[in-house]
Amino acid sequence: PETGSLSIVVLGASGDLAKKKTFPALFNLYRQGFLSADEVCIFGYARTVISDDELRDRLSGYLVREKDASSEELEVVAKFLHLIKYVSGPYDSEDGFRQLDKEILKHESLKTGAEGLSRRLFYLALPPSVYPSVCKMIKTCCMNKSDGGWTRVVVEKPFGKDLESAEQLSTQIGALFEEPQIYRIDHYLGKELVQNMLVLRFANRLFLPLWNRDNIASVQIVFREDFGTEGRGGYFDQYGIIRDIIQNHLLQVFCLIAMEKPVSLKADHIRDEKVKVLQSVVPIKDEEVVLGQYDGYRNDPTVPNNSNTPTFASVILRIDNERWEGVPFIVKAGKALNSRKAEIRIQFKDVPGDIFKCQKQGRNEFVIRLQPEEAMYMKLTVKQPGLDMSTVQSELDLSYRQRYQGVKIPEAYERLILDTIRGDQQHFVRRDELKASWEIFTPLLHRIDNGEFKPFSYQAGSRGPAEADKLLEKAGYVQTPDY
Ligand code: BG6
Repeated sequence: PETGSLSIVVLGASGDLAKKKTFPALFNLYRQGFLSADEVCIFGYARTVISDDELRDRLSGYLVREKDASSEELEVVAKFLHLIKYVSGPYDSEDGFRQLDKEILKHESLKTGAEGLSRRLFYLALPPSVYPSVCKMIKTCCMNKSDGGWTRVVVEKPFGKDLESAEQLSTQIGALFEEPQIYRIDHYLGKELVQNMLVLRFANRLFLPLWNRDNIASVQIVFREDFGTEGRGGYFDQYGIIRDIIQNHLLQVFCLIAMEKPVSLKADHIRDEKVKVLQSVVPIKDEEVVLGQYDGYRNDPTVPNNSNTPTFASVILRIDNERWEGVPFIVKAGKALNSRKAEIRIQFKDVPGDIFKCQKQGRNEFVIRLQPEEAMYMKLTVKQPGLDMSTVQSELDLSYRQRYQGVKIPEAYERLILDTIRGDQQHFVRRDELKASWEIFTPLLHRIDNGEFKPFSYQAGSRGPAEADKLLEKAGYVQTPDY
């Protein structure tokens, strides 16, 4: 592993994302020994003028629950907080960034060592509107100055609002940094069972011959949340569920299910295949889209009372290639539904020549539950135990909690931040991949924005609009009785 100073700069240090995700992930990496006090300094940067200690105070409650924490844990928290410094300044002028650079240089002069590298990681926990100016400031004032080492930037979604704006943003940032320096984070790529997808598909002989249009009837990729847009209505209303969840998180999962086998596990080999499958998606048909908005969404004072923004969407994607022609991929996401769950459902076709007359009991279905409670299970038809020769649907079940008792599954952000430090872009979105994903949804998004597509209303806490179930049925999905 590389050694030398490591400066991690969290821009937007007092914002929600930084407090809830970035700093806790850094803390967990520190706690597990992945960030060493001999090398690392974490700089918070934001506009608010506060002291180092004030920032530390604001963060500590997000790292552990103080009232439940042991004194050892609190000691680790204190040591971690001690690694954090704060610099305040604007996002669009050089003064603050020059000051930041001075602080980083101070740290580097203490920690780099004769043989070591100086490494600089900039995490933009900021709205995308300021990405271009912040990137420009980093480039002008804060690049790594030593011979070895590196400077990397991490950007979050929403990365643009449509194809044109995303490309514009990519061009602006691309003029400042090379692709290997840019880490476009999609935290779904850090989830355990999403990372397991390629292993599952390509390390198991069982699946290789089955994974195609001859055997698979439909694929569903479903995201449900049992809460609404509470507190984020203002942001959400400008984006809607397709931009918030489907165009990024679910489309990434889609790629991993549908792509061809990469030449190797190299980041670019994987991303080459993702781009190809995205480019093979045919234009979305109006009759294969159902949008919804939950009752009460517009009661949020930050949401306009005539808003048409969807909080639910179910869309059928179709891939025009040899493996998948004719197989519907139903991507579905909704807020304020009856449960919180993210899962993939791969349903197989009926058995030809069914001598058991058992098909009404349901089809084989392979379910991968990303959250909560990671699990994989395969619905199978088996003989009902007993003297009769009757059949019943049962499951081969791999529940992670049972099978891997005591193993802590890392948080997505933890894993992805570690990848940025290690320089592994396998689980990050490349520019052409981003472009291809916007190409799929932009025409539909424009029509929604122009008011040409109206969402059905659905009750908060329900399954979503009934029309979505009809769409699923039309796509040929067969509900297993009793499920
Ligand atoms: C974010 C969305 O990217 O993902 C949120 O902006 C959503 O609206 C969140 O709640 C869901 O993430 P997770 O990891 O809880 O499924």
